Amino acid sequence: MKTVPDFKARKGGERISVSTAYSCWEARFLAASPVDCVLVGDSVASVVDGEPATFSATPEIIARHTAAVARGLAGSKLLVADFPFLAARRGIPAAVDCAALLLRAGAQAVKIEGCDGHADVLRHLVGSGIPVMGHLGLTPQSVHALGGNKVQGRADAAAASILRQARELEAAGCFGVVLECVPFTLAAAVTSALGIPVIGIGAGPLTDGQVLVFHDYLGLNPGFQPRFVRRFADAGESVARGLAAYDAAVKNGTFPSANESY
Ligand code: KIV
Repeated sequence: MKTVPDFKARKGGERISVSTAYSCWEARFLAASPVDCVLVGDSVASVVDGEPATFSATPEIIARHTAAVARGLAGSKLLVADFPFLAARRGIPAAVDCAALLLRAGAQAVKIEGCDGHADVLRHLVGSGIPVMGHLGLTPQSVHALGGNKVQGRADAAAASILRQARELEAAGCFGVVLECVPFTLAAAVTSALGIPVIGIGAGPLTDGQVLVFHDYLGLNPGFQPRFVRRFADAGESVARGLAAYDAAVKNGTFPSANESY
């Protein structure tokens, strides 16, 4: 999948796999994989920088990681970059500047958390030819207002609000919506209500696709095991074994060998 129209065309068809990436080497692995679409998430703040939340990500930081990922993908996948904390809340000119930075870095689309209060910004970006992906449910940039990283939309009113906002995102011209940490029944309702792909994370099996953080599903973040993450590889264990073997070979004198010397 290389383009936004390719993504939209998958509504109701083969499910869409999305992975985060933050660096050129992750992107090279993804470029050689069948994974459909890559997101440079503001989760870079926690996954790469070890921050407890995503607030420290700025447009410049996302742009720098987007450029690295774009180099690694070399046009092989649809590349989406996250609007970081407050970037959609400073009015249309600031949002246009942020989108310009991210698209010039190599993103083909941007992802923006929330809807209420900045639907005008979303419409303006879409009207300016910038593809926008929405993000509802657990929106980590609002973690303090939400009282923590909790499942959203359990109560009827909260579920109705998410469904309403999802419809508004589609009406604003978004080409897809990420739905994070909501009951699977709500995710199914949103997925069938929209004519654009809904990508779940912690939202059950009835969406048009899934997104996970690269380090989480490959076992590179062993301390982090929420219910919605399945570990598809034990890369962390492999790295730990490699580190121990390297250390031992240096210390017992078997590395470097004659063949590894000039
Ligand atoms: O920042 C991120 O990585 C995300 C995805 C997990 C949806 O927003």
